[in-house]
Amino acid sequence: MSAFPEGDSIRVVGHAEALAVVQDPETFSSQVSRFLQVPNGLDGEEHAQFRAALDPFFGPDRMAALEDSVRDVAREAVARLPRDEPVGVILQLGVGFAVDAMLAWLNWPASLRDELIEWVRENAEATRSGHLSRTAEVAQWFDDIIGRVIDPRMERIEEEPRDVTDELLRLEVGGRRLERPELISILRNWTGGDLGSLALCAGVVLHQVAADPAIEADVRARREDPVRLAAAIDELLRIDDPFVSNRRLATRDTTVGTCPVTAGQRIVVDWTKANRDTQRFPDPDRYAPEENAAANLVYGAGPHVCPGRPLATLELRVLLEEVLDATNDLSPAQRPGVRAVRPLGGWLRTYIVLS
Ligand code: HEM
Repeated sequence: MSAFPEGDSIRVVGHAEALAVVQDPETFSSQVSRFLQVPNGLDGEEHAQFRAALDPFFGPDRMAALEDSVRDVAREAVARLPRDEPVGVILQLGVGFAVDAMLAWLNWPASLRDELIEWVRENAEATRSGHLSRTAEVAQWFDDIIGRVIDPRMERIEEEPRDVTDELLRLEVGGRRLERPELISILRNWTGGDLGSLALCAGVVLHQVAADPAIEADVRARREDPVRLAAAIDELLRIDDPFVSNRRLATRDTTVGTCPVTAGQRIVVDWTKANRDTQRFPDPDRYAPEENAAANLVYGAGPHVCPGRPLATLELRVLLEEVLDATNDLSPAQRPGVRAVRPLGGWLRTYIVLS
């Protein structure tokens, strides 16, 4: 079954069906939340306007300019790790790296580091618990952090921008500057969403490299070619996609695959399952970066395709490069890992040994 009812929703697990849903935004709206979500909760022309204004923040020139500072962060993070004993990829490496890389990108104060690390943990815990009041509290905590960063900056809005955050605050969309709730929503998407998923992505990638000597050899052979190394990372994320799902709302009666859908019904697009659909990937565990690249759905597809992909790829590639350069061998630790549970994917905890 490529799509089936699950509670009141329809879960879409087929590759072709997931694509059909996300490429038809008129039938499957992204206005799924009563909260303001910029740009992910917008549809149509308004969404396109925001994407046109925001996507350049992730352009190749911007990413090239950021690479050295991401590398410094990655090198320090790897240097702190012990050798020849189990290292917790997510908690000892991924979360701290994700937070430091974000602080460097947006030029936010280093004094926020501990609070953000704490927030990533609490957020994962709240998401896992499924308690709406707890999730709302953690979300409010994050909005407060963002407010503390942007409010003093708003007071010097007429001055020249000093960094990416200043540039965002001065951005005009549709001939007007953005309002505070819009800015908070954008920064929440750029940071809160990214921190947890980047750490989970680091876990999935390093776990597979350490667990399979053939993959490790292939990845080391790609070390000097950023494009081929990035393709390997995308493929490892496809095999065990930790960014599980996104939602849509049906605007009319229709079908997904053979599954009937009624107007107003919620749709859950399951990227993890779609990326392992045997109709599209006959042996979903087979590691074949170039062969599977075109069908890879880790960063979504259609008008809402992930704008942060270049940044996520840069961070994951540089982190992997630094791990490879600092070691001769990676191996799985004897200590067993713990899988994450829906709505999170990948590993909650996984341990590798750096030698
Ligand atoms: C770490 C790995 C990441 C993964 C696996 C990932 C995955 C995705 C996916 C699958 C979507 C599509 C959502 C949909 O169709 O509803 C998406 C959207 C989005 N992502 Fe990412 N993402 C990652 C990192 C990032 C980063 C680093 C940023 C920004 C700094 C970012 C910002 C966004 C935003 C703003 C959207 C909404 C786009 C829209 O609705 O137009 N993501 N992401």
